[in-house]
Amino acid sequence: MPTLVTTVDGLKFPNPFIIASGPPGTNLNVITRAFREGWGAVIAKTVSLDASKVVNVSPRYAKLHAAGGEVIGWENIELISDRPFEIWLDEFKRCKDQFPDGILIASVMEEYRKDAWVEIIERCQACGVDGFELNFSCPHGLPERKMGSAMGEEPEILREVVGWVREATRKPVWAKMTPNITRIEDPARAALQAGVSGISAINTLRCVMGVDLETLRPLPTVEGYSTPGGYSSKAIKPVALRMVMETAQMIRREFPGRSLSGLGGIETGRDAAEFILLGADTVQVCTGVMKFGYGLVQRLCDDLLAFMAGHQFESMAEFKGRSLGFLTTHADLVRRQAEHKVARKRDGGKALGSDGEWRGDDFVKQSASLANG
Ligand SMILES: Cc1cc2nc3c(=O)[nH]c(=O)nc-3n(C[C@H](O)[C@H](O)[C@H](O)COP(=O)(O)O)c2cc1C
Repeated sequence: MPTLVTTVDGLKFPNPFIIASGPPGTNLNVITRAFREGWGAVIAKTVSLDASKVVNVSPRYAKLHAAGGEVIGWENIELISDRPFEIWLDEFKRCKDQFPDGILIASVMEEYRKDAWVEIIERCQACGVDGFELNFSCPHGLPERKMGSAMGEEPEILREVVGWVREATRKPVWAKMTPNITRIEDPARAALQAGVSGISAINTLRCVMGVDLETLRPLPTVEGYSTPGGYSSKAIKPVALRMVMETAQMIRREFPGRSLSGLGGIETGRDAAEFILLGADTVQVCTGVMKFGYGLVQRLCDDLLAFMAGHQFESMAEFKGRSLGFLTTHADLVRRQAEHKVARKRDGGKALGSDGEWRGDDFVKQSASLANG
């Protein structure tokens, strides 16, 4: 029987499926629900020391529907948690009392001040949380206070902040990266050099969902106005996979042993398998839980186990990063194809590819199966 159990940064996950920071981990009630349903870990909604500065508006979501009605893209202009920090501390403590073996990760975000970062880490740590995710990636609202992605886009600031956090805790710390940057490796490298245990990628893509053609107002419309928000769900999966691939390659090259948590559009166990094949140790789900509910985890586990059984993989370690070696440069594709054509002509159409592994009909079969989803 294949197993989904995996140990990452010293934490033993019963399965790799983690509730991502957001509405599905917004209070003790729903976090409890997630553990009961069997999620491998929960990253709580991002907290800050002074929730009175966090003011949400409504509506704060806008959705993109496919022709059949399915939601494939989701914009939010929701901020981090607007619930008081003291309430959160009490809930972290009660959660760990109730689920001592459940992995509870606090997602934190603060202003660019050492004392604020040290205080938030130390007070969460005192409540028994198992690790931290540093939110360097919220694309809306908080950058106006130089928080979130305003920090995550600046490798030097990020390095300094991670240094403060590292002085305050020995627990696992993941830095959650913004995709709203050309080279995700630059801030991810700075965070790793400063000592984070791992990287989470990606947060939402900055977007404008659309414009109402009756009122001519952009969406979501709040008192007639809007602001760019964060794009999530199925539609962002290809971008997330690319950024996970780039981060995984960099970690393998420069920081072997550090971890990677992949997210962005995951809704099935097969989606998760793709992230793991491109180097993720764990995977996170946010919008998928908002669409399908907490019971989704059972289907995710069953699908991933079925994928593993189909390939006779006993553990995730056996296929983690397996597909990374098949990503190369365009120039290399041109070279391989030219060699393949020559060999094919020479052998009357039966030739092996230039690396001796791929046959012409394998390429055709593979592109057809990807096209069929
Ligand atoms: C409504 C909403 C609120 C979110 N709030 C947070 C947050 O507080 N902190 C955070 O790190 N990410 C937050 N996210 C981002 C998600 O954790 C995740 O990075 C992103 O949505 C991509 O994953 P998904 O496609 O599975 O949703 C939020 C996402 C949504 C849709």
